[in-house]
Amino acid sequence: MAHLIAPSLLAADFAHLANDVAMVERSSADWHHIDVMDGLFVPNISYGMPVIAAIGRHASKPLDVHLMIEQPDRYIQHFADLNAAVLTVHVEACTHLHRTLAAIREAGMKAGVALNPHTPLHSIEEVLGNLDLVCIMSVNPGFGGQKFIEGTADKVCRLSALRKEGQHEFLIEVDGGVGRQNAASLVDAGADVLVAGSSVFKAEDPEAEVAVLKAAGTALVQ
Ligand code: DX5
Ligand code: ZN
Repeated sequence: MAHLIAPSLLAADFAHLANDVAMVERSSADWHHIDVMDGLFVPNISYGMPVIAAIGRHASKPLDVHLMIEQPDRYIQHFADLNAAVLTVHVEACTHLHRTLAAIREAGMKAGVALNPHTPLHSIEEVLGNLDLVCIMSVNPGFGGQKFIEGTADKVCRLSALRKEGQHEFLIEVDGGVGRQNAASLVDAGADVLVAGSSVFKAEDPEAEVAVLKAAGTALVQ
């Protein structure tokens, strides 16, 4: 399967959000990545339901919602109602992760779990058969535009090996500091979904930048 690109709207121009959503729709990107922050799990607050509903009205590509919030169970149904295709929670925020993942699937969404850079893969080993996506954070969550933490490609490689060993089918997503400089090596390591905020939206030609990321790891880009 060719890898997917999910531009993170956190780096969009919020005063002209419809334009940036339209750019993602026109581009070869696959998903809209939507970062929800509560000021508790992470120090920052991003945006909430009304803004996501507005994005949804302009989007036909799937919404990939990344919850950086405490007690995400409280909002599972809200995000199902907002038409999220993927709902990702943080393992560090879930006491009953197995139950949370089941509830996300029951609400009709793909269930994702995100791991902070310091969180070991073994923290999700027992639920690898109960999820649809694992998001490997390559920055400490909370802000866009941070530096990619080296060593993440190795973590992706190890997760990819675990997936093969257990014959699982979840997608591996990488989030934070992703751009043309590391896209190919992440795809080679086993990443299926690349989230990219600043590298896309701060580019001179965001649509062309998406195409570069989409082609990474193939013969089109060296
Ligand atoms: C970080 C968010 C990311 C962020 C990525 O907490 O989860 O999705 O928007 O932004 P860049 O690509 O700029 O690192
Ligand atoms: Zn994210």
